[in-house]
Amino acid sequence: MRAETFDTVILGAGAAGMMCAIHAAARGGRVLLVDHARAPGEKIRISGGGRCNFTNLGSGPRNFLSRNPHFAKSALGRYTQHDFIALVEKHRIAYHEKTLGQLFCDNSAKDIIAMLLDEMDRAGCELRLKTTLEGIERVDGGFAVTLGGEGAARVRCRQFVVACGGKSIPKMGATGLGYQIAERFGLAVTETRAGLVPLTFGEDMLAGFSEIAGVAADVRVSCGKATFDEALLFTHRGLSGPAILQISSYWREKQPIRIAFLPREDVAAALLASKRENGRRSIANALAEILPKRLAAYLSQAHGWSGTMGGASDRKLAEIAATVQGWEVCPIGSEGYRTAEVTLGGVDTDGLNSRTMEAKAVDGLYFIGEVVDVTGWLGGYNFQWAWSSGWAAGTAI
Ligand code: FDA
Repeated sequence: MRAETFDTVILGAGAAGMMCAIHAAARGGRVLLVDHARAPGEKIRISGGGRCNFTNLGSGPRNFLSRNPHFAKSALGRYTQHDFIALVEKHRIAYHEKTLGQLFCDNSAKDIIAMLLDEMDRAGCELRLKTTLEGIERVDGGFAVTLGGEGAARVRCRQFVVACGGKSIPKMGATGLGYQIAERFGLAVTETRAGLVPLTFGEDMLAGFSEIAGVAADVRVSCGKATFDEALLFTHRGLSGPAILQISSYWREKQPIRIAFLPREDVAAALLASKRENGRRSIANALAEILPKRLAAYLSQAHGWSGTMGGASDRKLAEIAATVQGWEVCPIGSEGYRTAEVTLGGVDTDGLNSRTMEAKAVDGLYFIGEVVDVTGWLGGYNFQWAWSSGWAAGTAI
């Protein structure tokens, strides 16, 4: 096996690893970026429905979950969404704002990968694919790294950067190896769980949901103190859509979630007006004038709202409105890492320097991107964390 020396070895050629490689190499260091996959940036390629929601205009620390909500401030504040947008513009990649500040490529997510590869090339970083990490030891204040696969080698380096992501979508190569490396070097890892993921329900609810699978509605969804106004989608497996993915990151087992349909409207007033206008209309039909028809029928059946509007007291209509705008449901679980967009939790930020992402107790060992206990909302925030944390480590090395 060949023996080689680099200044920095980065494990994981995803969003964070590539960003870090660019900046570490630009500073003149010899940088090796390794990945067990066949291609770099596979999650970038499939993200945002193939158009990559690469950042969010409104990105700020409040859009992230972490045991220490202050940790991400430094990196996010020093390499912002505007810095990344400037890079995208430098490469003449056309983009647009879809909704809520979310920026997507006009053409393809592959434009972002090509941009990062081009920057890596200019900076002079070496990329080795189909290469695995077989071992890592602390030696002489640096690291002795054993690589297997196509890039097999014994490598000495001063810095080792863990950028191999979380556990979400194992089919795409997620391994959770980053957490093992952290623990092996004595860093704490907070509890990990699937985030930005559809929620599942018991048989009793599922039968009804299946009947209206495919129905979408704008809702306000809440769990504890977290609230999101976005679209909800009924599926054969439970509830999905951006609103549910967002709230899933805050939901804990056995907690109910609260769904308000028509969150910005006065549903009680609308029902009273409908009763005055035509008392012979059924409650389900009256609801169908303000909600998708199948959803109105489902809610009416599930809550036993039969009869006509004229036959319902004003108080009853107020109760119906309160349920439409405060429907409590209890998920039994989530679809898990199989479909989760991110992993919540990860390398405990207490053990990391927030300016550099270096482990406080192990000189030269860095953790960036999703492997760290910093998780963004849906909407381009997770890539922003990958760019910002990758930049923070890359410029510190
Ligand atoms: P990432 O997972 O990107 O990269 C890790 C790399 O390490 C991979 O290349 C992997 O092959 C490699 N690796 C893993 N284990 C290894 C091992 N044992 N040995 C060697 N290499 C190993 N976010 C967002 O902001 N906007 C969006 O539009 C989307 N869309 C989206 C869609 C889908 C379907 C998913 C699953 C996720 C998203 N995300 C997203 C989330 C986003 O993809 C995620 O937060 C970032 O990719 C995290 O970047 P990292 O570089 O940390 O990990």
